[in-house]
Amino acid sequence: MKKFGFGIVGCGAISNMHAGAVNAIESADLVACTDVNEKSLTEFSKKYVIEAYGDFNTMLADKRIDAVCICTPSGLHKRFCIEAAKAGKHIVVEKPMALTTEDCDEIIKACDENGVKLEVISQNRFKKSFRYVKTLVDEGKLGRIVSADIYMKYYRSPEYYASSNWKGTWAMDGGGALMNQGIHGVDILLFIMGKVKSVFGYTRTLVRDIEVEDTASAVVEFENGALGVIQGTTSVAPGYPRKMEINGDKGSITLIEGDITVWDIEGLDKPDFKAAAGRSHNDPMAFNIEGHVLQITDLIESIENGTEPFVSHREGRKPIELITAIYDSSRTGKRIEL
Ligand SMILES: NC(=O)c1ccc[n+]([C@@H]2O[C@H](COP(=O)([O-])OP(=O)(O)OC[C@H]3O[C@@H](n4cnc5c(N)ncnc54)[C@H](O)[C@@H]3O)[C@@H](O)[C@H]2O)c1
Repeated sequence: MKKFGFGIVGCGAISNMHAGAVNAIESADLVACTDVNEKSLTEFSKKYVIEAYGDFNTMLADKRIDAVCICTPSGLHKRFCIEAAKAGKHIVVEKPMALTTEDCDEIIKACDENGVKLEVISQNRFKKSFRYVKTLVDEGKLGRIVSADIYMKYYRSPEYYASSNWKGTWAMDGGGALMNQGIHGVDILLFIMGKVKSVFGYTRTLVRDIEVEDTASAVVEFENGALGVIQGTTSVAPGYPRKMEINGDKGSITLIEGDITVWDIEGLDKPDFKAAAGRSHNDPMAFNIEGHVLQITDLIESIENGTEPFVSHREGRKPIELITAIYDSSRTGKRIEL
């Protein structure tokens, strides 16, 4: 069996999920890592018994490496994606794929020109409950969808922002409650509902001492005619799990995180999906590696089969387009057509 060699750039909090996931996959082999912080680099390379490289391009030259996991601050994703693509390496990039649609387009072009696959981490898309809800919506089991809403009322402490030199900044985080924490929910809403026609949003920095928004509310009109609400904040105590409501003229479903809590569909039994209990509404790392394992496996399969990864670069661009449109709307006071 061919083993796919992986290198990791950025040895911070999320990189452990990637290392754990690569190590859990039989056809994957964790080979090397790199980080500008020497202490993080040394500790990480010792922990996983892998090669430590002083810079990204030297790591890319390692012939054992087929793919890289990009786990740096979000504002560096574009640069590392493009450098990896030009070196012919496949890519797993953390969310958000990049900070603007223009940056996403540059990444897509570089990957396509160099024949490499890219998987954007959006682990909720691999949960059975969300996939099932999408199938039901697509098959019309809820009738005509009238409203589709997502509420992400989270808590991130002042210390969470103070302890990082990049979180809460425009240059490296690219946004706040929506671009960093809320992007997971925005992505699954788009996954289930499809394209958005227009959006009107308010974003504010109400409580935290950060550049970007700590609170946002937006109203969207989907191309299928449904209306929806997107709410994201990192500033409410104690913070609540993400809630999604999908209501049609024949039935309704509510999900708290990945669990179906309201099931009002006549003639269809509620499925018994067991989702791992996440607490990321008040602890950014309170989730398990299952999603990362599934996503990295999906990348490997897409390389082997010559197919598109499930969350490809084209998919990863979609939440960025909507979130940046909400920012534009708030800035200009105008409705934005997508
Ligand atoms: N999928 C999820 O649920 C999830 C959860 C947390 C974070 N993330 C994403 O993962 C990314 C990293 O977040 P984190 O919380 O691990 O951040 P972090 O600050 O803990 O780690 C970032 C690491 O990148 C390193 N770094 C910075 N500049 C670098 C450079 N030029 N070259 C090499 N290394 C560099 C830092 O030294 C640090 O070790 C972000 O994009 C974030 O949005 C995703």
